[in-house]
Amino acid sequence: MKIGIDRIGLYSPHYYVALADVAAARNVDPNKYIIGIGQTEQAVPPSAEDVVTMGASAANEFIGDIDTSKIGLLVLGTETGIDASKSGAVVIQRLLQLPMGMRTFEIKQACYGGTAGLMAARDYVAAHPDKTALVIAADIARYGLASGGEVTQGAGAVAMLVSANPRIMTIEDDSVFISKDISDFWRPVYTDLALAKGKYSTEQYIEFFQTVWARYQQDTGRTLADFAAANFHLPYTKMGMKALKTALPAASAAVQERLLARYHESTIYSRRIGNIYTGSLYLALLSLLENTSALKAGDRLGMFSYGSGAVGEFYSGVLQPGYTDLLAAAKHVQELDARTELTVPEYEAMFNNKVPYAADDYATDPKAVVGAFRLEGVVKQERQYRRNDK
Ligand code: HMG
Repeated sequence: MKIGIDRIGLYSPHYYVALADVAAARNVDPNKYIIGIGQTEQAVPPSAEDVVTMGASAANEFIGDIDTSKIGLLVLGTETGIDASKSGAVVIQRLLQLPMGMRTFEIKQACYGGTAGLMAARDYVAAHPDKTALVIAADIARYGLASGGEVTQGAGAVAMLVSANPRIMTIEDDSVFISKDISDFWRPVYTDLALAKGKYSTEQYIEFFQTVWARYQQDTGRTLADFAAANFHLPYTKMGMKALKTALPAASAAVQERLLARYHESTIYSRRIGNIYTGSLYLALLSLLENTSALKAGDRLGMFSYGSGAVGEFYSGVLQPGYTDLLAAAKHVQELDARTELTVPEYEAMFNNKVPYAADDYATDPKAVVGAFRLEGVVKQERQYRRNDK
């Protein structure tokens, strides 16, 4: 039975800052950010948006087109959860007015949470082929103003419907994965700012890729020549390229050229949005599918997922006939182009205006532009959400 991604939706905030401006403010050569790191713009979320509103907005792109009575599982993969106990998934279920008859929970393992959710969904659909699963990967990457990781911040969500006989891409049963307790990146519960050992995390990402890619080749007998493209978790767009380049020398010049061209297309959205942690690999997939005419049904795509701490997984997907009919390239580009550019002081003010880590009541800016859902604030320690577009 074929199982995989039947629909995919994207949401990213309506504000961004240009990284050339951030570089100027930090006395850094802009080419370090734009060429060296590979990021041009960074999405900046107002405090009226969090993983619940962004995740629900991403799913809202297609929820009106699907039979929601068939959804048996709703998983939110995030490392920016809104509560230590209650999952954001149950709030998303309410905001999307989904039926009660589904399993609803949140998964955490750094940036691997989206893939963890997708694999749980795959297994669920394999056991219940007449049902579907909604997987939402949503995050806000925050390292701190003027921190080493600042250039790799970002915010957004990708929602995917997983079903039998999927119309976009199968998720093949060929995963190779490894897990190992390391401290390359983490976020203690008392802070909303991530800590990272930058160079070490980069090295570990590459090492995990090399390990799973070597095992994948052994298990399947496939080589790079079997892939029309390879998508990577993109904490910044140079990162996947560093990993890909370690595998490329084994391929012919034509295969190398093809994979590099597709890699470039897979980074177009990330370059403008930044790291969205759990959703980042799936943002790369969407960027590739919506920015190339070089792929066709039957093509096999490589997928490398990495979540610090750390888990690495490589699997493949096969594009399905008519998959382009389910994409929304023009809408997504129009939404990115329509965002409001912030000056660095405006970005810093938005960054600092956040839901406090305290029991105080808090009101978000009612004028902040948001997606289909809004976080109005916190009253008596309960988050107040509402639909924004009705
Ligand atoms: P840094 O120390 O600011 O940067 O850290 P650098 O000095 O290493 O320079 C970066 C690149 O810019 C280098 O190129 C320089 O040569 C180049 P490379 O050697 O890497 O090819 N450069 C220039 N290029 C052109 N013109 C110039 C110029 N100057 C320098 N003038 C780092 C960068 C990404 C490490 C930092 O921002 C950071 O710590 N970010 C957060 C951690 C991170 O993203 N790690 C990635 C792997 S871990 C991961 O993917 C998981 C994660 O998503 C979290 C999760 O799983 O939840 C992060």
